[in-house]
Amino acid sequence: MIKAVIFDLDGVIVSTDQLHYEAWKHIADQEGIHFDEKINHRLRGVSRMDSLNIILENANKKYNDSEKKSLAKTKNDYYVELLKQLSPKDMLPHVYDVLLKLKEKGIKIAIGSSSRNAKTILKYLNITNLFEAIADGTDIENSKPAPDVFLKAAAKLGVPYASCAVIEDATVGIEAAKKAGMLAIAVFDAKKSKQADYKLDDIRDLLSIV
Ligand code: BG6
Ligand code: MG
Repeated sequence: MIKAVIFDLDGVIVSTDQLHYEAWKHIADQEGIHFDEKINHRLRGVSRMDSLNIILENANKKYNDSEKKSLAKTKNDYYVELLKQLSPKDMLPHVYDVLLKLKEKGIKIAIGSSSRNAKTILKYLNITNLFEAIADGTDIENSKPAPDVFLKAAAKLGVPYASCAVIEDATVGIEAAKKAGMLAIAVFDAKKSKQADYKLDDIRDLLSIV
């Protein structure tokens, strides 16, 4: 029986993809590196540094660690500025209702996000207090597809792994959920994952699964 649902944040609760893309594009253009929407898809669910390493695959020179740190910082400063435009109306359709209905049913809800900006985003969306636990990029060493962030969320909730469901838009997130021994529910891009237990066209269908 499912006792808790762990939500990915970027791409499930709010669409920050375009803001990440804009910020990375700024860096890629500055460095003269080819970067497009197709490469951007590969950044879904992976940490900031892993994302930078994917972008640098197309660079003509090698970057050392301090150069990489500085590029990642510039990208994040730019991204954090873009995040300031977020408000509750940016939540994806029906998400807020689903969160409230899960709580009414007595199901615990948590965040399991690779982002180190997760708490800032939740604050702009004004939904921080809905969640019993928040596990994010600041809690973990290894980002998805490693299971760490979901294991951390379950530990913070005090719910056994097998009683948790994860909802994800990234194929690496589905892989992480399965490694954690959890039920893996896919939306958007993650529906192409072969490992997903459920694939939803509408997030409201979550309420008939858990
Ligand atoms: C994930 C996003 O939620 O967070 C990735 O899907 C992003 O695209 C990752 O790279 C890390 O985000 P941040 O905010 O810590 O740079
Ligand atoms: Mg996501």
